[in-house]
Amino acid sequence: MESSVAVRGRGFGKTLRRDAWWMPPLSVAVGLSLFGAYATWAIMFGNTNNVYFADPYLSPFYSPCITASCPEKIRFFGVGWWPFSPAILMMGIILGFRGTCYYYRKAYYRAFFADPPACAVGEFRGDRYKGETSFPWILQNLHRYFMYLSIVVILFLAYDTGHGFFFEDGLGVGVGSIILLINWLLLTGYLFGCHSLRHIIGGNVDCYSCTLGGKARHGLWKRATWFNKRHQLFAWTSLIFVCFTDLYIRLVAMGTFTDLRIL
Ligand code: FES
Repeated sequence: MESSVAVRGRGFGKTLRRDAWWMPPLSVAVGLSLFGAYATWAIMFGNTNNVYFADPYLSPFYSPCITASCPEKIRFFGVGWWPFSPAILMMGIILGFRGTCYYYRKAYYRAFFADPPACAVGEFRGDRYKGETSFPWILQNLHRYFMYLSIVVILFLAYDTGHGFFFEDGLGVGVGSIILLINWLLLTGYLFGCHSLRHIIGGNVDCYSCTLGGKARHGLWKRATWFNKRHQLFAWTSLIFVCFTDLYIRLVAMGTFTDLRIL
């Protein structure tokens, strides 16, 4: 069997593979482009009349809502000097986190840069590949710091998800409450499967029984490993569902339909 080096040497896109190897990168390119288009619209232009909030539901794109233009009920801090969409500040963290994610890196390097297009398929740049050792790709090493910030964001999101169960007349459950809860669980599953987080929890430990709190750490590491093995699944389900959640709240806020109160 010919080595992948020999196959790469034949030129861009050349391969011995006979399967539809181009399908995954094509699907990723379509999926990420659709997400990018929707998120850009929702964040930059979709905040007229605060339609990201349908009491008690706040769109996850806007959580935490931190600018002075946010409805008082859900406003954190109230940054008065920020003239743009309240979502932009937080989305910088989220996009930084997803953009530097180990899974997404593999996915979009293949989908958008064909670098390489797939396993054992000829690369565009041939032997000049330098990995992530020079600018701008060396910035991917910031992933760990975006992960720290994302933990803070997920805690705010937990608060706003809880807020989705408190109606004008007290505690209750609406379809929107359930949607917000599923959204939070998926996003937390994505975060908990992060390679950097798993490493910090226990990946850097050589001997659990010799470490303080080693048993608890090992248990946590095993759970993180379960999520880590499904990181791609959580990456996509959480990405799609967060858009669905935003759209649902937006349509309720615009009066397109009424949220169904279950309890
Ligand atoms: S590796 Fe994917 S979020 Fe950290």
